Amino acid sequence: MSQQFDVVVIGGGPGGYVAAIRAAQLGFNTACVDAFKNPEGKPSLGGTCLNVGCIPSKALLQSSENYHAVQHDFAAHGISVSGAKMDVGTMLKRKEGIIGKNAGGIAFLFKKNKVANVHGLGVLKGRTGERWVIEVTDNGSVVDTLEATHVILATGSTPRPLPGVAIDNNLVLDNAGALALTATPKRLGVIGSGVIGLEMGSVWKRLGAEVTILEAMPTFLAAADQQIAKEAFKTLTRDTGLDIQLGVKIGEIKTGKKSVTVAYEINGEKKSAEFDKLIVSIGRLPNTAGLGAEAVGLQIDERGFVVVDDNCHTNLPNMWAVGDVVRGPMLAHKASEEGVAVAERIAGQKPHIDFNAIPWVIYTSPEIAWVGKTEEQLKKDGIEYKKGTSGFAANGRALGLGMAAGTVKVLADAKTDRILGVHIIGPFASELIAEAVVAMEFAASSEDIARIVHAHPSLSEVLHEACLAADKRALHG
Ligand code: FAD
Ligand code: NAI
Repeated sequence: MSQQFDVVVIGGGPGGYVAAIRAAQLGFNTACVDAFKNPEGKPSLGGTCLNVGCIPSKALLQSSENYHAVQHDFAAHGISVSGAKMDVGTMLKRKEGIIGKNAGGIAFLFKKNKVANVHGLGVLKGRTGERWVIEVTDNGSVVDTLEATHVILATGSTPRPLPGVAIDNNLVLDNAGALALTATPKRLGVIGSGVIGLEMGSVWKRLGAEVTILEAMPTFLAAADQQIAKEAFKTLTRDTGLDIQLGVKIGEIKTGKKSVTVAYEINGEKKSAEFDKLIVSIGRLPNTAGLGAEAVGLQIDERGFVVVDDNCHTNLPNMWAVGDVVRGPMLAHKASEEGVAVAERIAGQKPHIDFNAIPWVIYTSPEIAWVGKTEEQLKKDGIEYKKGTSGFAANGRALGLGMAAGTVKVLADAKTDRILGVHIIGPFASELIAEAVVAMEFAASSEDIARIVHAHPSLSEVLHEACLAADKRALHG
């Protein structure tokens, strides 16, 4: 006998679990089916983000930053520490503890909101009358059959493989392997200088690895504002000590017993490098394999994404899709907002997501964050703009923190002064960007921020100053 629901969500990551909670809050009888198992083989809600993505990477970034600070930054405060040691095992245990706490938190929220928590792989089987049929399997056996009026697909993404290179998570690692190394490798290679490459490269560099990042594109962080990207390149290579090689063509990758050799070409020159571990982080692919898309006629595009309209509705009646499995940036907050919006649409509401105001953050040191258009995009679109920049170098709070590297750049419409983009490299850019997002959502002008009182001393004064600079009346520049 099938269990019947108003809404079944397939996938329990930030897109799916949030959609399920919101649907339940709106009065729908809701189930969430998720297949993720932790290394102990136990179900663990939260998807990629919580288990092998956003949260564990930030935990390791913090641990490695602390270790780095003890060694390099404390002396300036008059604190001398000798014999500081890094116990990678304790660091990993702390990370696992954070994951466990948050995953348990989602299970608790499911109980609180009466969301049925179903563990297993959800497969679309077809229709019975007006309802969709979803079969749930676990370890190859059918464990449940669910029927739903509405289905929300939130199956996320998996690492994009490099042809001919097998991920064994021993020598050649994907994101899960990169987050679970039990010792610091002496020589770490990374293919791809995107977000994962830079974050994971920073972690292991601070813990003592020599890190070489091999990037195919000739441009560093091509999606970011290039003024900020250039500053980031300089800081990450000079201060963090990452060896980032751009414009690389990867050749044969040979896995030995204890090391991996990567042949590559750069500026027409053939080279080869041997690494103790190699991370492959060259993007992610939507996760639709085994979902039953073909069986029900679900439209998938040529890159494997579930095709949706602006409302996250698929080509099938009452079937929706959110998060990494659909177009748009692969970010947890984007997935969650789509999940909420779909639940509300099912309830007949008319939510709206402003895709132009989705913040990006790269948690390197210093952090990089942006929202809205880059200077390159504005030029390409022929939009006249003015810009204001201000550095952290003279900011009292940044100096007190010992984190005075970085810049805030504000781009505003030349005529209306409406803020079109804000780009930050600097301390706590991940937090500072929130003010810019709010400003853009409220269609603020740079003058609006320039006229708002910002606490002193605070990092937010640098955004304030950049807005003053956009109007050519910087006080400290
Ligand atoms: P996912 O989180 O991938 O969740 C999908 C879930 O569905 C998984 O549990 C999967 O097992 C399950 N599933 C798949 N198919 C089925 C099926 N047929 N039946 C049942 N269950 C199924 N984003 C940020 O915004 N900030 C960050 O700091 C950040 N850091 C990251 C760091 C790393 C190392 C990685 C890899 C990613 C990071 N991301 C970050 C991206 C972020 O993790 C994703 O954008 C986000 O997890 C997408 O959410 P989702 O719900 O769409 O999918
Ligand atoms: P990415 O898309 O950020 O970067 C991949 C990089 O690999 C690109 O620079 C690309 O040019 C390069 N590349 C592709 N093929 C290559 C090849 N054959 N040889 C060498 N380089 C090659 O993807 P990444 O880092 O794997 O992360 C996946 C996604 O996860 C990100 O796009 C982001 O959406 C999400 N994420 C977000 C984080 C955050 O918000 N802080 C942190 C980590 C991941």
